[in-house]
Amino acid sequence: MPLNAASARPIIVTPELPADISTGVTGSVLSASGLTLEAVGEILALATVLEREDPIQRAQRLAKRRIALLFYESSTRTRTSFELAAKGLGADTTLVSSLSSSIEKGETLKDTGLTLRALGAEAIILRHPSSGAPWLLERETQLPVLNAGDGMHEHPSQALLDLRTILAHLRPGVEAVTAETLAGLTVAITGDILHSRVARSNMILLPKLGARVILCGPRELLPELAAQAGPGVEIERNFTRALEQSQVVMMLRIQAERLAGLQLDLEEYKASYQLSEERLTKYAPKALVMHPGPIIRGLELTGEVADGPQSVILEQVHHGVAIRMALVYRALAGRTLTAGAQKGVRA
Ligand code: MLT
Repeated sequence: MPLNAASARPIIVTPELPADISTGVTGSVLSASGLTLEAVGEILALATVLEREDPIQRAQRLAKRRIALLFYESSTRTRTSFELAAKGLGADTTLVSSLSSSIEKGETLKDTGLTLRALGAEAIILRHPSSGAPWLLERETQLPVLNAGDGMHEHPSQALLDLRTILAHLRPGVEAVTAETLAGLTVAITGDILHSRVARSNMILLPKLGARVILCGPRELLPELAAQAGPGVEIERNFTRALEQSQVVMMLRIQAERLAGLQLDLEEYKASYQLSEERLTKYAPKALVMHPGPIIRGLELTGEVADGPQSVILEQVHHGVAIRMALVYRALAGRTLTAGAQKGVRA
């Protein structure tokens, strides 16, 4: 059964963006590549403090501060966890989505951002189909921006929650992260690497802490060029060999909405790359099974694997709230709410 997308736009092999072109608004998190080890450690530590805090006290931290969620693409986990994180800190949140706002009438990202700022938003959480959109929004609004996924580029908060999940299982008790924290660990990221901002952020973040990342998938979904993503990243086309070497297996959804005319034989794909119980018990019986969601049962992995004892998929979702509390808190900490900010003038 071939899977393809209706549109016939050309496939973008690598989104070309400089490593980090942030205009330097404190508290923004635009990419994994822009995160220093120090910042990663700070976010992880803050996540733990906030998670353990008494909920009543926690809700005083950002009481009545205003945060806008600006979502141009659908989302379940990311949007809900950012919203619960901000609300858990006491902030007021508002959701603007492309289907129920002036975006539908053609308003630009810049104008929507400036409007949100004039309404008193002090930080914006953005999901956008175009790579680089968070940089533009930050530049135009001068507000802290948290990238909740930009096109096929990056999804830094997902990589951070994935890291927290890995650490909880494989490096329990680790408080401070260094370039050696994940030394000796191999993570196989398997599936639609080409279209995955999750893969991209993880292949940047995990090697910063010393992990080796094996990318696995067919040529259509994993161009040879990906091996040049950075140090610690390799390609292995054979799924069995990738599984045998890995302590973590991160499965990815085939992003049908981004296939752009690419034909893929799904039966062939499943035969080579589906994570089944049989494959898992035979080649990686101790590995953690991860997936950023949404999972497509029976395609990239079977239902038994998703629900099985090695799966930490729902734990990933759970870690998302703590990580996003830390990101939201960091975005607003140190910024005081001034009358100017309330009127939409930069503080
Ligand atoms: C994303 O937004 O990139 C998701 O978490 C992964 C997916 O859509 O498959």
